[in-house]
Amino acid sequence: MNIQWYPGHMTKARRAMKEDIKLVDLVIELVDARIPYSSRNPDIDELAAGKARMILLNKADLADPDAVRGWQAFFENKKIPAVCVDARNRGSLKQVQGAVAQACREKTERDRKRGIMNRPIRAMVVGIPNVGKSTFINSFAGKACAKTGNKPGVTKGNQWIRLNKSLELLDTPGILWPRFEEERVGVHLALIGSINDQILDKEELACRLIAILRERYPQVLDARYGGEEASDLMREGTAAAVLEEVARKRACLLKGGALDTARAAALLLDEFRGGKLGQLSLERPEEF
Ligand code: G4P
Repeated sequence: MNIQWYPGHMTKARRAMKEDIKLVDLVIELVDARIPYSSRNPDIDELAAGKARMILLNKADLADPDAVRGWQAFFENKKIPAVCVDARNRGSLKQVQGAVAQACREKTERDRKRGIMNRPIRAMVVGIPNVGKSTFINSFAGKACAKTGNKPGVTKGNQWIRLNKSLELLDTPGILWPRFEEERVGVHLALIGSINDQILDKEELACRLIAILRERYPQVLDARYGGEEASDLMREGTAAAVLEEVARKRACLLKGGALDTARAAALLLDEFRGGKLGQLSLERPEEF
């Protein structure tokens, strides 16, 4: 599957990111909990070198809890605190403050030894498009949106949101670019809806989804679209036959009565993306 995305602009984006990262103590990296590998920027370790780090596995409400726990352990093994969240839900963000303190412990300790007390931690949120950066900033900042204004040493135009006496957040997130090299990364990003569908062949994409789901979660297609007579087909038929069955079940028909597999493909992708097939992950840490 040939997916062309985010051409050009990379050098500029990289330069901007390098400048902004200089201003902060902590880099809060958002990834999509369903595809933490594909939704991570490969250069982030280098870009954020020397900074405290933490990872938010966002959209955890849509991901397989078991896989998410695996990813949490994976990042914690790399000494990066990782928290799973649903950025739309303020309640799920309660653990973030604790993880911030944990991530910045060394810095706070260094400051303390130098006699610097109570200096707020400055953080910025980074991530590839559509992982939920803006949603997170809005939920996390809540009413505490008082901008602190420009200060010496802060690039003109950068605004800080004072969340509390110990944390300030740069109000605009850093946009990173995704990995380009691997085909499956493009497919995974397309499947969760991070790539404009208009440039994709939805039927081909839906067939990839069917293949992936059957390998990882053999029961889900049958549970949603199967039923007594189509159970075997859902498990063993070709992806094209499965798509036809979805069209039949959901009455996706063309004018003359033929099956509208294009509409069935769009429906399947939408239902997967919206979590209607269950909490499903496309990547597990042991695969990487
Ligand atoms: P970005 O700044 O990183 O580009 O992402 P943004 O916050 O714009 O979020 C992208 C989409 O993901 C939005 O949906 C947002 O509501 C959704 N989203 C963010 N965090 C979560 C989460 O934890 N769980 C779920 N299920 N969805 C999340 P949208 O459809 O583009 O917009 P809207 O219709 O929700 O406003």
